[in-house]
Amino acid sequence: MFRYLTAGESHGEGLYAILEGVPAGLKIDLDYINYELSRRQLGYGRGERMKIEKDEAIILTGVRGGITTGAPITISVKNRDYENWERFMRTTGDIESGREVTVPRPGHADLVGGIKYGHKDLRNVLERASARETAVRVAAGAVAKLFLAEFGIRIYSHVLRVGSVEVEYPGGLPEEELKKADERPLRCLDPQVESRMIKWVDRARENGDTLGGIFEVVVFGLPPGLGRYVHWDRKLDGCLAGALMAIPSAKGVEIGDGIALANIPGRMAVDEIYYENGRFYRKTNRAGGLEGGVTNGMPLVVKVSLKPIPTQVKPLKSVDIITKEPKPAQVERSDITAVPAAGVVGEAITALVLMESFLEKFGGDHMREIKVNFENYIQTIIAY
Ligand SMILES: Cc1cc2nc3c(=O)[nH]c(=O)nc-3n(C[C@H](O)[C@H](O)[C@H](O)COP(=O)(O)O)c2cc1C
Repeated sequence: MFRYLTAGESHGEGLYAILEGVPAGLKIDLDYINYELSRRQLGYGRGERMKIEKDEAIILTGVRGGITTGAPITISVKNRDYENWERFMRTTGDIESGREVTVPRPGHADLVGGIKYGHKDLRNVLERASARETAVRVAAGAVAKLFLAEFGIRIYSHVLRVGSVEVEYPGGLPEEELKKADERPLRCLDPQVESRMIKWVDRARENGDTLGGIFEVVVFGLPPGLGRYVHWDRKLDGCLAGALMAIPSAKGVEIGDGIALANIPGRMAVDEIYYENGRFYRKTNRAGGLEGGVTNGMPLVVKVSLKPIPTQVKPLKSVDIITKEPKPAQVERSDITAVPAAGVVGEAITALVLMESFLEKFGGDHMREIKVNFENYIQTIIAY
């Protein structure tokens, strides 16, 4: 069984992930994990914190000499400005006052978190609910990506929409194109559309506003047969949607052509099946690589829509939880848009879900065993 947990606060000492069920014998490349962390910090329209904090992963357990042992892996990502926050955030001993939050920010977990856990200082909520936590999900996802790469599985993301500016794109971009997303300021592959997006970001900044958008994750090299149609909770579309919706600010997940399929005739909404030279294939990929919640051998395509960042430079209306008087919401920090970075988070989450599904099908305690299981399966499907 593969699972992971994260812990840590936005201004605490650091963020932590524990991954259980990573097989022994997987080579862990720390530079690659750090490279993935740096990708999360990319993107036009990010705030000041990205500049002060260059994230770096430290592996604390479960790996010896760069090779996994099969034991739980602990990864930590330090918060570099902790020294300025130590007196407000230390875990034991008295803390200093001065950083309390009593005015909840609309669109954040602040108010519901305060009510639910009984906090009168909402910093106890926002420190944990912050999207800063996605840094360590990206580090965990990098381990999953390294695992999947051993089986030829490659994961990319790119930005389709920022605010109301959207790429007109028919889907099915080649891998070589998708590799270029990180070279672009907003990780959008259409330079002309991207320059319009940049104008929107600049305008939003001038107006003290923020923007949402849509990113897409594309996965190549998946074998047919991951996920299960026989149990609702093992259907891979459901597993992916659940995990991707848990990205802060994600409000919609579409598989393949997704919502657009609702508008077209049935004949045009499916991918017809062909057979040639001993293999089944499709000429289209409207289903985004999943039928019945099971991979069908086509690239996996998932889109995620994000709401605009809720924190505004011009504070929104709120109410002080102590005095119950109206008060403008606290401005904690704000990016203009997080869509390019969220795409990198989306890749990590997708990798973690796929790794779980892959291990469920081909599982073993050592990479050697899993490779044998995988190869056997590939032989059986060639003979099908
Ligand atoms: C990579 C990333 C960065 C984010 N940065 C910010 C930010 O700077 N300010 C902010 O208010 N929200 C930011 N968000 C979004 C909030 O964390 C999110 O809207 C909030 O936690 C409430 O969760 P919900 O929108 O899923 O309901 C970011 C989200 C992501 C994925």
